[in-house]
Amino acid sequence: MSRRKQIYEGKAKILFEGPEPGTLVQYFKDDATAFNAQKKATLDGKGILNNRISEFVMLRLGEIGIPTHFIKRLNMREQLIKEVEIIPLEVICRNIAAGTMSKRLGIEEGEKLPRSIVEFCLKRDDLGDPLIAEEHIHAFGWATHAELDEMIAMTLRINDYLQGMFAGIGIKLVDFKIEFGRLANEDGGHQVILADEISPDSCRLWDAETDRKLDKDRFRRDLGGVTEAYTEVASRLGILKENQNKHAPNLSVVSNDD
Ligand code: C5P
Repeated sequence: MSRRKQIYEGKAKILFEGPEPGTLVQYFKDDATAFNAQKKATLDGKGILNNRISEFVMLRLGEIGIPTHFIKRLNMREQLIKEVEIIPLEVICRNIAAGTMSKRLGIEEGEKLPRSIVEFCLKRDDLGDPLIAEEHIHAFGWATHAELDEMIAMTLRINDYLQGMFAGIGIKLVDFKIEFGRLANEDGGHQVILADEISPDSCRLWDAETDRKLDKDRFRRDLGGVTEAYTEVASRLGILKENQNKHAPNLSVVSNDD
């Protein structure tokens, strides 16, 4: 790992130069942060679980025709991805009120929204990733009209698919955050593709029967059992071998290669 050139270090991931031009290696750390990194911890095995869950989700989305940056998983903590220019927006899709929407609009957490709602935040840690309107995106040129239309269409399609996928394993998809990037074409143009990760760090996932939280809110709200919850998500998705110790993710993750 240390011999490769580091391109970028984020709160939960590191990007390294990839083996071929146009590729990067995305490394999943065990670090967890919340409230714009005011709260920090290391959660043993989280990076391994997120690597596997994100791989699983990106592969399923690829199968339904969503273009993604994912190429292949390299090992327990790393995946090979396509290098993109990240569009500086966090695209949030919500089905059930929670988190900042509940606080901002005074809607009780858990209330089903009249329809799925897509929101945008500017990716600016120093400003706390503020909520912005489409008008800001157009006026400041953060994305073109065509790119924004594509991002919204892909987000709603991803939401539809993931809601169904999670419903099938007894989990409600409350909300999620995704990021998109521009992948350069040979003709000098580009294509907008799904980038970053989709994992319990970036989604709210509640048990369908009990509303028990199976996501990063367990860390944000000091509920405990964070890795156990992520392990449960991986296990329900069929990523973990059933007869192994679910609290030892570094031992029990099933390899694609075996
Ligand atoms: O905090 P808020 O309610 O706005 O979060 C909405 C969704 O976006 C949650 O699933 C949360 O995990 C995700 N999110 C994220 N990264 C951020 C902000 C929110 O993954 N910087």
